[in-house]
Amino acid sequence: MNRKLTLIAAVALLGASFAAPVRAAEMTEKEKALSNPYPNDFGPDTLPDAVLKAYPANVQAGYKKLISTKGGCAQCHSAARPLNSRFVEPEGGIDDKKQEASLAALKKAQPELFADATVWQVETKIWSRYVKRMMNKPGCGIQKADGKAIYEFLAYDSVKRKTGANAAAWAAHRKGLVDQLKAKNPKRYDELKEAKDL
Ligand code: HEC
Repeated sequence: MNRKLTLIAAVALLGASFAAPVRAAEMTEKEKALSNPYPNDFGPDTLPDAVLKAYPANVQAGYKKLISTKGGCAQCHSAARPLNSRFVEPEGGIDDKKQEASLAALKKAQPELFADATVWQVETKIWSRYVKRMMNKPGCGIQKADGKAIYEFLAYDSVKRKTGANAAAWAAHRKGLVDQLKAKNPKRYDELKEAKDL
């Protein structure tokens, strides 16, 4: 082999050795995500247009990123998983004190939001933690700026759609999803219940 060919072969080998583990890891994360269903997955994987239209432009942009299979959350599991999640992040954005004040106000005004953690899990920074956790998974193709937009959508949407005037409708919806998992996949239901991840 002449030197040029040797070089090309070496570069190709190097490329393969870098690319292969990443692809394998992504498959495993995706496989993991799909083989371990959540009640969330039985719900819709999009939001109704009417709901979305009422949201601010930056929040709508985050939603569009979230539902994307390329560089969004739907790369590994359906967008239903975040959209039907029990997680609620109190208002306040990156200001911790504001979020703590919003959490205290919610506890006072709507104690029912803290009665059943399978319907509502209200916690400061819960969505920022989860977006980071997902972005740290091997093979995750979400860009940093997109992660921020997705987080802004999830935090805003969680308060709008699951609390206040919409709390009762949300509870009915979410309980229906948990019941479906229990009926269709009792083993997984028990597993999640045991892990306090239902
Ligand atoms: C690289 C693959 C991958 C990507 C991309 C991904 N997820 Fe996940 N997701 C998983 C896996 C695997 C699980 C199973 C639980 C775990 O490992 O945390 C999961 C579980 C979840 C759960 C269920 C957690 C629970 O305990 O109820 C939520 C909510 C979630 N993902 C939200 C998101 C959001 C939001 C995004 C986009 C920012 C996202 N995921 C992108 C792989 C991924």
